[in-house]
Amino acid sequence: MNRITIHVDGNAGTINRHIYGHFAEHLGRCIYDGIWVGEDSPIPNTRGIRNDIVEALRHINIPNLRWPGGCFADDYHWRDGIGPKENRPRWINSHWGNVVENNHFGTHEFMDLCDQLGCEPYICGNVGSGTVQEMRDWLEYLTFAGDSSLANERRANGQDEPWAITYWGVGNENWGCGGNMRAEYYADEYKRYATYCRNFNNSALYRIAGGPHDTDYHWTEVLMREAAARMEGLSLHYYSLIQWEDKKPATQFDESEWFTLLKKALFMDTILSQHSAIMDRYDPDKRVGLIVDEWGTWHAVEPGTNPAFLYQQNTLRDAVLAGVTLHVFHNHCDRVHMANIAQTVNVLQAMVLTEGEHMILTPTYHMFEMFKGHQGATLLPLVLQSEDYASGDAAIPAVSASASRNASGEILLTVCNLNPNKPAELSCHLPGAAITGVTGRVLTGETMNAVNTFEAPEAVRPVPFDGAALNGSDLKIVLPAKSVVALTLS
Ligand code: AHR
Repeated sequence: MNRITIHVDGNAGTINRHIYGHFAEHLGRCIYDGIWVGEDSPIPNTRGIRNDIVEALRHINIPNLRWPGGCFADDYHWRDGIGPKENRPRWINSHWGNVVENNHFGTHEFMDLCDQLGCEPYICGNVGSGTVQEMRDWLEYLTFAGDSSLANERRANGQDEPWAITYWGVGNENWGCGGNMRAEYYADEYKRYATYCRNFNNSALYRIAGGPHDTDYHWTEVLMREAAARMEGLSLHYYSLIQWEDKKPATQFDESEWFTLLKKALFMDTILSQHSAIMDRYDPDKRVGLIVDEWGTWHAVEPGTNPAFLYQQNTLRDAVLAGVTLHVFHNHCDRVHMANIAQTVNVLQAMVLTEGEHMILTPTYHMFEMFKGHQGATLLPLVLQSEDYASGDAAIPAVSASASRNASGEILLTVCNLNPNKPAELSCHLPGAAITGVTGRVLTGETMNAVNTFEAPEAVRPVPFDGAALNGSDLKIVLPAKSVVALTLS
């Protein structure tokens, strides 16, 4: 039997809404032939940005968008992406398939996108191949209200008012595509760059240092020891995948691969605990945020597509995995202040996929929509006893759950059943609660690899859930096999 006790009047921290952040890189068909279709496109757009994508992302309350990379960020020179489009240089995107980048989507277009989405920009600057001056000047161009050459250049390019910028990345994966540096070298470089990274409108800038990946605890140790005083956030990247070489398909897998991938996702908890423990030694007040600005599944590309474009499909397995991962982030909300799933459109674990004028919502999108009430809410203390879901001689908990209370007092309980074979009966105890109503939705499918396609775009979508019954301050829930359930208790 699975049991949960939720203390509805308790407070286990605030789930920062930025944990539900996203990431859009100049990679494959994320920006070009994705978000950006250009003003002259027959696809409905606003100043070149696809309307259907904006509408879909607004619906999940996208809180922030990280741009322009990823690896692309350390090869990107912002001046290439301003001014009349016909004058912008064409150059090679050497990280992602050597395709020609025409720079039609640059600073103004990105800020317009954030404006249309109603989300905060999170810009990642170039350390690997850029200069301190280049990064500092970008900030002046973006944020200065007065009469400087850079602010006037911004005005000449159509933006009178300075933009508000809070989140600023100082390089990306500087242990790899961002310059192949040692932690000790990058820590010094970080301090040099960060010294000159400021808002020119007197508001605070939240500087995010290029952080470790996976279990590189040495990187965290060095960065925290050498540079914690000059950073507000430290990034962390962790992707869930079966194996790096010869990656496995997104839609064709057996149960052992379903199990392995979810186990890999749960490993996020260990990684966060270990990195947080190091950070605690240098920053016991938890001022510095751990910013998981790349996470999600990484499968083989869809057959027939450019391997450098990282275009993958997205099944029910990806949605369950995302739900489980977000629950892990909630449990670390004292340290995890932001997270960005990779990537928003047509790349890796995307929210939406496009084909010409058509757009489909992925199962992961629906999961984000079902969880959106957690954004900014108070995390409720919860004790979960779960049965095991075993495969071979390994086992993981079958049930993952999280509950939060929003400003109106409504409780959102989200639960995932990781077992693809068996419904999970869950007895939920809410001591002292005066709950009178429960409504819910469920996301599941006939098969583990249930998927939305352009031919059948609604195969996986949330439907009303009638498997929860209230009995005083107790709740009995029967979760279908391989499902994500969101319940609102009032
Ligand atoms: O998200 C794809 C790539 O993965 C990013 O560009 C890079 O930062 C990471 O290695």
